[in-house]
Amino acid sequence: MINKVEMMGDIERVLFSAEQIQERVKEVGAQISKDYYGKNPVVVGILKGVVPFYAAMTQAITIPLEEDFMCVSSYEGTESTGKIILRKDVDVSLRDRHVLILEDILDSGRTLKAIIEMMKTQKPASVKICTLFDKPEGRKIPLEADYVCYDVPNEFVVGYGLDYDGYYRNLPFVGVLKPSVYQD
Ligand code: IMP
Ligand code: MG
Repeated sequence: MINKVEMMGDIERVLFSAEQIQERVKEVGAQISKDYYGKNPVVVGILKGVVPFYAAMTQAITIPLEEDFMCVSSYEGTESTGKIILRKDVDVSLRDRHVLILEDILDSGRTLKAIIEMMKTQKPASVKICTLFDKPEGRKIPLEADYVCYDVPNEFVVGYGLDYDGYYRNLPFVGVLKPSVYQD
């Protein structure tokens, strides 16, 4: 566990403010509302990193939807282990439902690939991905999101839900973490 007294000194530079994210979320939410009109989707958030994005995006979507969550862990430090552990499954049945996954960041693609495979055993009508951030250079397996708010460079970013070792999720902006924080 990190024993922290402050967070700002660990940030190399700020990439997006909460206000900027909010504006972009409104645009993507409007598109999703059109695409899913009449489909009553189940919007599944991937805990815990999705929490601020989930709150913003579900409110930007103007059509009826059901909310649910899954929790998986795959990450230790800044390197993906490739191993996905299911910690909490969805509560509603996904059978014949249109499922929209909300995720904080798509990096190697392994987490979402594993999640989609687990969901498909329930025979949903469709499964699509909406991610706040996409790191296209991090991809290890071929997987693309259907809705991307922003592309980010291949650096470790924190804030607005995104963590390093459990910390920084509560920063009200997204920034690049100083490499010295995780290299020490
Ligand atoms: P993937 O399986 O490599 O696509 O990793 C996706 C997961 O890794 C996300 O849900 C995040 O929890 C975590 N992750 C990947 N890149 C970052 C980052 O830059 N900052 C914080 N978490 C990240
Ligand atoms: Mg994480």
